[in-house]
Amino acid sequence: MLPWPPLRRNEPSVALRPWGAQASDAATLAAAWSEPDIARWTAVPDAHDEAAAARWVAGEGARRDQGVALDLAITESGVPEVVLGEIGLALVEADRRWAEVGYWLFPAERGRGRASVALEVFTDWVLRDLPINRLFARTHVDNPASAAVARRAGYELAGELPDGAQVWVADREG
Ligand SMILES: CC(C)(COP(=O)(O)OP(=O)(O)OC[C@H]1O[C@@H](n2cnc3c(N)ncnc32)[C@H](O)[C@@H]1OP(=O)(O)O)[C@@H](O)C(=O)NCCC(=O)NCCS
Repeated sequence: MLPWPPLRRNEPSVALRPWGAQASDAATLAAAWSEPDIARWTAVPDAHDEAAAARWVAGEGARRDQGVALDLAITESGVPEVVLGEIGLALVEADRRWAEVGYWLFPAERGRGRASVALEVFTDWVLRDLPINRLFARTHVDNPASAAVARRAGYELAGELPDGAQVWVADREG
């Protein structure tokens, strides 16, 4: 069972909260899954409608409790009802405790440093408080904003995959 975070940063204002805390979350998520950049660069389910998003939100607690994935909505501090984006992890190497991070913002919320701050806050918390030793991000050369977020959040470039994706890594200290 993963512990629950009170994660926030003031400048720029970023807070991370669970999906499902607001009635509008399923509609918000369905809209995000239909946004072209988000659909292109992140793993979104085949079904994009609100019913599918509601099922996904309902399953979030179970995925978290099983330790396989954890996704949080990005909001401004004190404005939990307006979702700016999402940040989350999926456990990919259970034995080594490695997990992959993913993140997105709605187009209107980009360009203000909030994805980088969300990733920084999330990474600090996960590597300090959760049983995860390494977080990594995979970014594509055609998506430089995504690599910039990883770099700004303190991830180090570890290498390149045959498909051209860059791999960025943050490790638990000590
Ligand atoms: C990747 C993505 C989240 C990046 O969003 P973003 O808004 O560019 O990222 P940030 O929130 O870190 O904003 C950084 C920008 O805000 C600016 N900024 C403004 N105030 C800032 C502050 N206080 N601190 C840092 N940056 C600030 C930076 O200059 C930067 O602009 P630049 O890239 O033109 O230099 C967004 O493009 C997205 O959702 N894409 C679709 C999904 C996706 O690709 N996900 C990643 C898959 S690996």
